[in-house]
Amino acid sequence: MKFFIDTADLAQIKEANDLGILDGVTTNPSLMAKVGIKGEAAVINHYKTIAELVDGDVSAEVVSTEFKDIVEEGKKLHAIHPNIVVKVPMIKDGIKALKWFSDNGIKTNCTLCFSAGQAIMAAKAGANYISPFIGRIDDSNWDGLELIAQIAEIYSIQGFETEILAASIRSPLHIVKCAEAGADVVTSPLESIMGLLKHPLTDIGLAKFLADAKSWA
Ligand code: E4P
Repeated sequence: MKFFIDTADLAQIKEANDLGILDGVTTNPSLMAKVGIKGEAAVINHYKTIAELVDGDVSAEVVSTEFKDIVEEGKKLHAIHPNIVVKVPMIKDGIKALKWFSDNGIKTNCTLCFSAGQAIMAAKAGANYISPFIGRIDDSNWDGLELIAQIAEIYSIQGFETEILAASIRSPLHIVKCAEAGADVVTSPLESIMGLLKHPLTDIGLAKFLADAKSWA
């Protein structure tokens, strides 16, 4: 399973990248706004900085909703850096654009997926990644992890090559459960990635080992 970080914050991307286990980055317009990026030139420059920093796929989301505009915007994003993956919303014109990008060799991530039907449409359109938002599904009293398992089963039965990119992660446990459910990629905030490292017995055990090691001196 691949590990992506879900942020546009350069310090957090660097911290995760320094672990040596980072496979990519996902961003969205809200995450870009959160770090104060404003204006087309700044947006493009920020995507370039991220793409140069990480050796892996970097999702950059279009904000157009009409087929022709999505294609034009996606081509511009694609031209920024070879690591850029064009992130396209799960809407009718988005599906048409995903097919166009697929036919023209441009990598895509289909975002805002909340059902197996949508995941089937994205796979049929040739999306490289489908992003089910499991945290937002959980927030609505549905089971996001069940959706990951359902899509994994469908893709396996049907032989679809689209990778399942579990998104909207809220906790380290979400990451573990996504791994169990068959996600190909999990994109998480830094806090959830770092949370995977934590166990109180590790801390207690290490403190004891270090204390006992002092007796050697
Ligand atoms: C990733 O591609 C999504 O944009 C992101 O995971 C959404 O997460 P949120 O539901 O925490 O905003």
